[in-house]
Amino acid sequence: MDTGLQQVAAPQIWAIASGKGGVGKSILATNLAISLASKNRRCTLIDADLGGANLHTLFGLQRPKCGLSDLFVGKQVSLQQLAVPTGIDGLDLVSGSGEMLDVANLHHAKKQRLLRQTASLDNEHVIIDIGAGSSFNSLDFFLLGHQSILVVVPTPSSMENVYHFLKAALTRKLAQAAKNLGLVLSADPSLSLPWQQIETLRCTQPQAADHLQAEMSRLRPGIIINQTRTVEERQLGSQIALACQHFFKLNVEILGVIDYDERIYHSVQKRQPFLQAEAESPFAAAIDDITMNLLSPGRNQ
Ligand SMILES: Nc1ncnc2c1ncn2[C@@H]1O[C@H](COP(=O)(O)OP(=O)(O)OP(=O)(O)O)[C@@H](O)[C@H]1O
Ligand SMILES: [Mg+2]
Repeated sequence: MDTGLQQVAAPQIWAIASGKGGVGKSILATNLAISLASKNRRCTLIDADLGGANLHTLFGLQRPKCGLSDLFVGKQVSLQQLAVPTGIDGLDLVSGSGEMLDVANLHHAKKQRLLRQTASLDNEHVIIDIGAGSSFNSLDFFLLGHQSILVVVPTPSSMENVYHFLKAALTRKLAQAAKNLGLVLSADPSLSLPWQQIETLRCTQPQAADHLQAEMSRLRPGIIINQTRTVEERQLGSQIALACQHFFKLNVEILGVIDYDERIYHSVQKRQPFLQAEAESPFAAAIDDITMNLLSPGRNQ
């Protein structure tokens, strides 16, 4: 039956996280959002770094009076109402600022509210910039993305944090999937990896193990390696992908490699997004490649 109403699809969510702070999440979230808007893909950028919201600064905006945390303290306000224009056509920002709250561990119902409101946003795309580290909040925001994106820089500590973060994300996802199926997982501490839990379960409940495995295989994080300077650093992606497959039986996709560019620091100081200031730079080309890859047909089916 034709109701005369146009069916509006829920927006595609890209969630951007990192194990280590200061690696470039906010820079990449901002510039990917600008890249989408420049392709006439309306986008809402959400600053979910509740402890250190700063995305408004990257656009040269005053700190908005209201922000995401207002949604979590029960104010009668919708995510749509919290979105402010960025000055870039087709791009809105939900700031992380607003009411102060204890952000350490948001209640499940509050995250569900965010998810529902995100799904009903009147835009085609949502990019979520997540606070660094593997707190439950960060992991849950990461897992709610249609595309989860992890940013890594080529330093030993950042590389190490990738594995900690992914292990924590997989463990969290497994726990959620098991809970949804009413399953109790083994408490054996030697089964520290999700695939070990699933294989152990398979001995007694093969069907449940299949369900869990199917659910886990839906997570296919994308990785962006940022601030590379050498040929070796640009090739780190294949090492990461191999290690993730080997240790976690997890397929990760290397979405792109972005070279270090001194001028990015200056664009932050000038509060001007780099993509606008340097549209012909290698950085802009790399962002465009990543955007086009993520928009390619059939990816999010
Ligand atoms: N490709 C790059 N080349 C040069 N400098 C970069 C690049 N990417 C990011 N930076 C620098 O790193 C700084 C930190 O970036 P950004 O604020 O995006 O990190 P973050 O991961 O969001 O940090 P936090 O965890 O504190 O939220 C930027 O101010 C910029 O100076
Ligand atoms: Mg940030």
